Amino acid sequence: MPRRKPTIAGNWKMHLDRTKAVELARAVRRGAEALGPGVDVAVVPPFVYLEAVAKELAGSPVRLGAQNVCEQREGAFTGEISAAMLKDVGCSFALVGHSERRHVYGEDDARVAAKLRALLDAGLDAVLCVGETLAERDSNRTEYVVREQTTQALLGVSADEVRRVTLAYEPVWAIGTGRNATAVQASDVHLYLRGLLSGLYDGQVAEAVRIQYGGSVKPDNAAELLNAPSVDGALVGGASLKADSFLAIAAAAPR
Ligand code: PGA
Repeated sequence: MPRRKPTIAGNWKMHLDRTKAVELARAVRRGAEALGPGVDVAVVPPFVYLEAVAKELAGSPVRLGAQNVCEQREGAFTGEISAAMLKDVGCSFALVGHSERRHVYGEDDARVAAKLRALLDAGLDAVLCVGETLAERDSNRTEYVVREQTTQALLGVSADEVRRVTLAYEPVWAIGTGRNATAVQASDVHLYLRGLLSGLYDGQVAEAVRIQYGGSVKPDNAAELLNAPSVDGALVGGASLKADSFLAIAAAAPR
């Protein structure tokens, strides 16, 4: 069974301006080239800077992703961006189901599933984010929540297609709070999700799908988290806005 290559993605959220986005992309590109092919590096800028960042990354191994996508193909959907448009400007993937989309913008599992379908149909990859709130963890509902989120999003996704999906386990209480899950907490959920994939598909698929951890990943906790069993990389928010900290996290991934 080939080892799953770790993937480190920087979710820039609604930060930076055009100049800073291009500078950061340039520095990430240099750093990723120096790290070599043992780790996949990706950046996820705001929509309006995707094209400028794509130019900066042209010919480099750094992958470009979007933070969101519309579930519709095209039409009168003011303010939305389609999967085909993302592909057109150089994206190879997009996030779906990020907790800020679920909890701030009210996206439910059905919408997340439709967005995932739109990406797969357009030939793009997807990072499907799942994770429990603190109240859900405290009432022992973590496994139930991530099972529902994962199962609902993957309804109708074939075994071939799911290989283009990366899961990101992002406990809501760890996002932007400085309070990361421990390596054991992360691993427990990742192993649970892998078991779930094995049941939904089969063992081979479950071993092939990458599961990233996200939530307050920083250079000083990266090595422990990234070396935990079944953790195949990180989805990084705050620490991805500076090349030094983001690249230090990427360098901590087992290669
Ligand atoms: P954080 O964000 O690293 O700032 O906690 C992670 C994320 O939302 O993907």
